[in-house]
Amino acid sequence: MADLKIKFLGHEFKNPVIPASGCFGFGYEFSDYYDINILGSISCKGTTLKPRYGNPLPRIAECPAGLINSIGLQNPGVDKVISEELVKLDKVYKDKVIANVGGHSVSDYVETVKKFNDCDKVLAIELNISCPNVTGGGMAFGVDPEVAKNLVAEVKKVAIKPIIVKLSPNVTDIVKMAKAVVEGGADAISLINTLVGMRINLKTGEPIIHVKKGGYSGPGIFPVALRMVYEVSHAVDVPVIGMGGIQTAYDVLEMMYAGASLVMVGAQNLVDPYACKKIIDDLPNVMKEYNIEKLEDIIGRCK
Ligand code: FUM
Repeated sequence: MADLKIKFLGHEFKNPVIPASGCFGFGYEFSDYYDINILGSISCKGTTLKPRYGNPLPRIAECPAGLINSIGLQNPGVDKVISEELVKLDKVYKDKVIANVGGHSVSDYVETVKKFNDCDKVLAIELNISCPNVTGGGMAFGVDPEVAKNLVAEVKKVAIKPIIVKLSPNVTDIVKMAKAVVEGGADAISLINTLVGMRINLKTGEPIIHVKKGGYSGPGIFPVALRMVYEVSHAVDVPVIGMGGIQTAYDVLEMMYAGASLVMVGAQNLVDPYACKKIIDDLPNVMKEYNIEKLEDIIGRCK
């Protein structure tokens, strides 16, 4: 029988498939579609210290192989996430989840991470230093190695949970960024967030997205994500979560051969709310097709 279990940061995941932050709400919203307990875990909607209403509309632009989003980290703020959203999630999902934390300043990140210290539902924090859709924060922390390293170091001083740092692909040297956050104390790395892009409305000659640019994700970015996961996982000694354009169980195997211990599925959930379920259901057959008995055995096997 196919063995899908993965050990990661001392926790056993029943399979490596996790919906990516920002593409699956707080998880419970999808429990009307299927039993979400089949998921390896859930990376919850990006959370900030204070509530955020997000960017003005339009904040989505469709593309031939994906979409551009400029949501602007809309969320009810960490206090409500803990007291309301994660409570609702706990009723329909029994495992622990990953909290995704964004911010505008070092103290924003530090204070938000501190609030999750006592939250039993949260297994680890994904530190989002790669959101391209907010000014004065987000990706600004994820494109300079020294700034990123210092942020991670400050967060690590207060964090009780393991810290997974989510990297931006909008840099010239992703390995340099990965090494910097590991020096800062990152326990794991997730990558990639979205690539900055734009579309123009030909009727008006103006950008479709209200704030002009946004983050491009979907199958079009899969080869870029795979390359970056490969480079980073072979350069650092912390585990890596791979994401970017994953649509199928075949893509999951590629990501794991490249070096990902776990994978996150993002934009595909917006195309098909059953995407993660289909991938999990298909994995045993696809593993059989390639004579893989234990998924853990293929992690980083591509040299
Ligand atoms: O705009 C957003 O909320 C996107 C966040 C991200 O890409 O990290």
